[in-house]
Amino acid sequence: MNNRFEGKVALVVGGANADESHLLGFAGLSALEIARSGGKIIIGDIDDEAGNRSVDKMKKAGLTAKYVHMDVTSESDWSATVEMTLSLYGRLDIMIMAAGIPDRGETIDTTEVDKWRQVMDVTNLGMFLGTRAVVGPMRKNGGGSIVLISSMMAKVVRDQANAYATSRAGMTHFARSAAVQYGPDNIRVNTVLPGWTLTPFTSNAFDAEWMERLAKRVPLRRVADASDIAGPILFLASDEAKYVTGSELLADGGVTGWIGPMD
Ligand SMILES: NC(=O)c1ccc[n+]([C@@H]2O[C@H](COP(=O)([O-])OP(=O)(O)OC[C@H]3O[C@@H](n4cnc5c(N)ncnc54)[C@H](O)[C@@H]3O)[C@@H](O)[C@H]2O)c1
Repeated sequence: MNNRFEGKVALVVGGANADESHLLGFAGLSALEIARSGGKIIIGDIDDEAGNRSVDKMKKAGLTAKYVHMDVTSESDWSATVEMTLSLYGRLDIMIMAAGIPDRGETIDTTEVDKWRQVMDVTNLGMFLGTRAVVGPMRKNGGGSIVLISSMMAKVVRDQANAYATSRAGMTHFARSAAVQYGPDNIRVNTVLPGWTLTPFTSNAFDAEWMERLAKRVPLRRVADASDIAGPILFLASDEAKYVTGSELLADGGVTGWIGPMD
């Protein structure tokens, strides 16, 4: 164990999949690594089974972690979670916001209005409420790091999943404006833009054949796993990125820079 996050308190929202005996999510793995590197963790999510299981395992391993049920679209859930973090650990230094839901297969014509609102709310209302909820305590500490998990879909689009792509583009732009507003408080706000990654979010859609097809479109010739994305998240969360704010960190294996195979 290194001490990269010694003394830091991190709220990781959408990080329930942090149990290594199951498929990891990348926010989940980031939470696990922060705890292993000396940090104290709160995981917020709506998946109570995965969240409780992950935190039980962390505690058995001697790590400092707590799970709380919270819905990112609820302002009162955010304030209760932040209050609980402060009463448990006395401070808040890092917030990673990774909650997301898909609208795979939907075109503009087929997307129900409720589905559009749901996708936009989880991502865009979630990042807005979350940022507002954490900046107060971060200011008191003399700074902090907010990492918003966007997607390479903020840069490119498909012939479907319009709400998802639109919400992700909004996320990267929101991070820029938050970086400007909170820069004087030494609060950094950045986005990570993951490419295709095998996690619980994609495991239903990514069978072996589909992953092989996707890999041909990736310059690095493979679909990512959680560790490929946790590295960039942890970099932005850490003091190694102390002069990085308002930035987008693409972790897509090169996909968005490539026009695709020419044959
Ligand atoms: N896996 C990929 O290929 C990929 C690529 C780009 C972006 N992303 C995004 O990365 C993020 C993390 O996903 P992951 O792939 O690590 O999978 P994941 O399933 O581990 O993470 C998503 C989490 O969000 C939680 N969540 C959903 N709605 C919520 C709500 N209203 N309130 C609180 N939590 C909620 C889920 O319960 C889940 O634990 C997601 O936003 C996803 O859209 C994933």
